[in-house]
Amino acid sequence: MPKGAPEGGAAQGAGRGTARGLRKALKAKLWVPKAVGVNLLSRLPLAEQIHYNLQRLLGRHRLDAPEMFSRALELFRLHRHAGGDLSGKDVLEVGTGWFPFTPVMAHLLGARSVVTVDVHPWLRLGNLIRTGEELGPMLDDMARRAGAEAETVRERHRRLLSAARRAAELQDVLQAAGIDYRCPCDLTEGPLPAESFDVVFSSNVLEHIPPAELREIHRQIGRMLRPDGLVVHRLNPGDHFVELTGSTVNFLRFSEGAWRWLGGSGLSYHNRLRSCEHAGILREAGLGLHLWADALDRKALRSELGRTVVPAGRFERMPEEFLAAYYTWFVAGRADGESVTEPVRVRWIDALLDGTAQEGDDDGAVEAAARRGAGAPSSGST
Ligand SMILES: C[S@@+](CC[C@H](N)C(=O)[O-])C[C@H]1O[C@@H](n2cnc3c(N)ncnc32)[C@H](O)[C@@H]1O
Repeated sequence: MPKGAPEGGAAQGAGRGTARGLRKALKAKLWVPKAVGVNLLSRLPLAEQIHYNLQRLLGRHRLDAPEMFSRALELFRLHRHAGGDLSGKDVLEVGTGWFPFTPVMAHLLGARSVVTVDVHPWLRLGNLIRTGEELGPMLDDMARRAGAEAETVRERHRRLLSAARRAAELQDVLQAAGIDYRCPCDLTEGPLPAESFDVVFSSNVLEHIPPAELREIHRQIGRMLRPDGLVVHRLNPGDHFVELTGSTVNFLRFSEGAWRWLGGSGLSYHNRLRSCEHAGILREAGLGLHLWADALDRKALRSELGRTVVPAGRFERMPEEFLAAYYTWFVAGRADGESVTEPVRVRWIDALLDGTAQEGDDDGAVEAAARRGAGAPSSGST
């Protein structure tokens, strides 16, 4: 499970009278000045540079290699689970970020080419080298779980690291690995050719894109995808201030107007779209869903929604299961077959990928869907 997975107290539910309770309550209040601060900072000239340096200084983007490795591995495993084979394929990643685990792992696993695009220039040579170094001890595990030949993966990794250590520029290393980093790159402008990718990945990106832009990006992805290509997205529709508030649903109690000043604009933008809205946008863009899985925050369902967190605006009318989905995975392709219309509900996607869910527990639906071939019940209302 990722950092920030739901556990512990609700936003306003911190214990009173104890030092721990006070600390928790204080922390829960801190998120508002932080959110407004980042929002205001985003309007300054050189905002990206200031944000980059602040994040480094505060250790916000320190490298958590096991976490980033497992996020990227989920994408490759989902691709394989859906019948994909990365070997010799052309890959597009949307939203590179700070540490390029997905593009580097795609290269190591045998992709022919990888284009990775971002709107913000967070990737630096040092981060790429560290990503390569951290992957060293994980290669065998990666090869085994992603279905690649370990010795070939190790050999590609040796070549990549030796190029990285000799390089003076980020682009030199990327080129050696067949990775094309495009930044700033606005996919809505259609900068890449039609039917040029077999696989499109994104990890923790779709929640940061405004809905109108997201519609166009999915449409562009559909255009760039080859007829038998696959799209794999994982995203975090939960409140990103969970580490301060303790709640993945706290942000749903704000009106659109109030949210604009908190996380609804600027560098920490979150669109608050629920998984059913993401699924609808994917389908409207002409993509068919092969798989849709949601991880539910049971604490939010049990003790927050409708109690300490009263959903506002359009969230008032939405089924609580969609409000409480704090992680979502989609596998999609060209919409020429059957499309999934409801999510399978999982504790985590590993349950589906490993086939470990037990009938009768929360993951029973996962096992049933997996038996049907990655689908889900088809009575959807989204
Ligand atoms: C939370 S980071 C995730 C980075 C990386 N995928 C990971 O899993 O660590 C989100 C990234 O998406 C990028 N991003 C946001 N909007 C984007 C867009 N419209 N097109 C491409 N990248 C975008 C951000 O600049 C940021 O680097």
